[in-house]
Amino acid sequence: MAIRKIAQMGHPVLRRRAEEVPPAALSTVRVQQLIDDMIETMRDADGAGIAAPQVHESLRISVIEVAGNPRYPDFPGIPLVVLVNPMIDPLVGSPIDALSDEDAIEMFEGCLSVHGIRGRVKRPRKVRVRALDRTGKALDEVWEGVPAAVVQHETDHLDGILFVDRADPRTLSFMPEYERYVVRARIAEQTPDID
Ligand code: NI
Repeated sequence: MAIRKIAQMGHPVLRRRAEEVPPAALSTVRVQQLIDDMIETMRDADGAGIAAPQVHESLRISVIEVAGNPRYPDFPGIPLVVLVNPMIDPLVGSPIDALSDEDAIEMFEGCLSVHGIRGRVKRPRKVRVRALDRTGKALDEVWEGVPAAVVQHETDHLDGILFVDRADPRTLSFMPEYERYVVRARIAEQTPDID
């Protein structure tokens, strides 16, 4: 296992469409090592997830885990999951570009590849997640709320999309300002930003 260097916004690897992992390649040392390294890198950096392009590997793999994460103290726990060649389908009534409030989850996101910035992103609040796990077994689940937002964020990375592309630009904030003005306001209102 090794901690890998995380690509930062501006690196072209973050903007390419990552390649499908051929099922036969999944059992190779190279891919299994990559998955182990992604998990270690995510945990080391307190990420809620990480996608292979973020560690300079243009492959359609992401890992997600939330367990008492200091970067996202109000996120619910998400057990470790490895998603290979994931496909995400929104399960909401309204169209993606005109989400009703009840069909949307809107929350401040951050990204290990966009160091020190948060921004408010609106996404479908319920999605179907289909993928292979690291052993090649098919996974087909419905995710809702924060986990749905996280898996959409990670899958966007595989298509060269960063959260800043989807954020309301007027909400983009550096971390000290986010903590000063967004978190404090939320505590004052007693309204959690995410549910
Ligand atoms: Ni990210």
